[in-house]
Amino acid sequence: MRLFSRGRWLPLLFLAVVAALGVGCQQRDPMTTIAPKSDVGSMIQGLYVLLFWLSVVVFVVVEGLLVYAVLRFRAKPGQGIPAQVHGNNRLEIAWTIAPAIILVVIAVPTWATIFKTAAEPGPNALRVEVVARQWWWEFRYPELNLVTANELHLPVDRQVAFTLKSGDVIHSFWVPQLGGKQDVVPGRVNKLQFTPNTTGTYYGQCVELCGASHALMRMRAIVQTQEDFDAWVKGNRTPPTAPTGAEAQRGADVFAKGACVACHTIEGTPGKGTVGPNLTYFGSRTTLAAGIMPNTAENIARWLRDPAAVKPQAKMPNLNLSEHDISALVAYLSSLKLPER
Ligand code: CUA
Repeated sequence: MRLFSRGRWLPLLFLAVVAALGVGCQQRDPMTTIAPKSDVGSMIQGLYVLLFWLSVVVFVVVEGLLVYAVLRFRAKPGQGIPAQVHGNNRLEIAWTIAPAIILVVIAVPTWATIFKTAAEPGPNALRVEVVARQWWWEFRYPELNLVTANELHLPVDRQVAFTLKSGDVIHSFWVPQLGGKQDVVPGRVNKLQFTPNTTGTYYGQCVELCGASHALMRMRAIVQTQEDFDAWVKGNRTPPTAPTGAEAQRGADVFAKGACVACHTIEGTPGKGTVGPNLTYFGSRTTLAAGIMPNTAENIARWLRDPAAVKPQAKMPNLNLSEHDISALVAYLSSLKLPER
């Protein structure tokens, strides 16, 4: 029985908890907040590191004194009641001033960071309008006359000035590796800016409970070299050419003559709807349904068959499409690929 006494297993339990928590800190975690890839992300990380080490110092000093006092002044056999004391001006002043100094050390860089991250973006910043909707993201580039959804393309090392708007309820925009989160509130325009400094694909998602599929309101930020970004812009600004292949052509027909056009835009087609995501060059997106699944033929078919079965309460209705039409639409949507460079 002694093996399981409290003194034996408590340190082991402590180590197990520390190890379990440590697993959460791996840098390959796509939603990590501790591997920033933008100027603003690095500033926030700097504050986090400062706070972390200050907390470590406070923890070690306070726990050290506590353990020392417990051991040094513990009752010894036959000792009786020790001398009773009350008050110690020097100590009390010390433990009032020390935390005040620590708070100032935290407050000054925090203010500085808040002002820096909230600064007005420069004149050369890329403007992006984010419109959050149940449950997907619209990204508009007003200067580039370009609209896309769920996959945000950005050039590396250029400041981005976001304006955040909501199409319905309160959402919150967050790409953890690129910047702080910002609420998206109906009837209000919020702002956010950062400069991504490393190419790559970064995961983001809505972080304000916004309904049944809040957890499925995801996005990708794809940070590219200037050349890749320019090519993406140029490709997007040229309407897709008519599909080749009988199945895709039939799909284009189903799209143009069906209910799809009421909600979706595909440049160069009768589709001019703005209720749902813009699908121009949908075939070049890596994901589907606001980043919840890879853009494969199988997944597009699943979505078309019954959107709400994939994303609870999805606003896209079940159009009761025949399998014949679904396979044509899959061929057409997959064919909407940006031209090869
Ligand atoms: Cu949008 Cu949660």
